[in-house]
Amino acid sequence: MLNPLAITSLANPLAIVIAGIATLTVVLVGSLKGTEWEPTTDISDTVLERRASAVPETDFPEPSNRAIGGGGGGGAIPAGGEGDGGELEDGSTASSGPGDIPEDEVEYFEVEFVKQGETIELSNDQPILEQGEDQGWDLPYACRQGQCVSCAGRIGDGPSEDYVEHDNQQMLEEAELDDGYTLTCVAYPRDSFSLETGEAP
Ligand code: FES
Repeated sequence: MLNPLAITSLANPLAIVIAGIATLTVVLVGSLKGTEWEPTTDISDTVLERRASAVPETDFPEPSNRAIGGGGGGGAIPAGGEGDGGELEDGSTASSGPGDIPEDEVEYFEVEFVKQGETIELSNDQPILEQGEDQGWDLPYACRQGQCVSCAGRIGDGPSEDYVEHDNQQMLEEAELDDGYTLTCVAYPRDSFSLETGEAP
């Protein structure tokens, strides 16, 4: 017959081990459950539907109105047909400057380059500066856009605009033009004259 004391002393460590394993299992299962990923509810459709219902109905009678440009007020592109810019209207070229002369209408004028000691024929469809350079002359210039006075010269025969047409020169004042000054990079001959290059007011 077993001594009850001996059974108790044997059962205790066994019970402790079993209890320990059970506790560990519970903790493990509990922790696994806790970290389980639960997907959030997909509400994108709901949001889209809500947004769609918030957009007001348009008044366009026909969808094609948008394409024509008659629909939206405040659109970036103005309604067609007005055309205040004048570009490409009546089938003409986009822009016209003093050099835009049809080939069969180009005229030539005799221009004396005083400092170079030569008189040459200049066409009326190219700036004086360019045509002087075509001769191999080292003429002064900087911007070539009528925005400085590096290329200035002086026409000795009278007001420069009696002899040349400037394409948007922004530097010479009326009195200087009357004194014969010209910006050769944007000046197109309109008559014969004599010119002193490298002369600024
Ligand atoms: S080069 Fe500047 S205005 Fe002619």
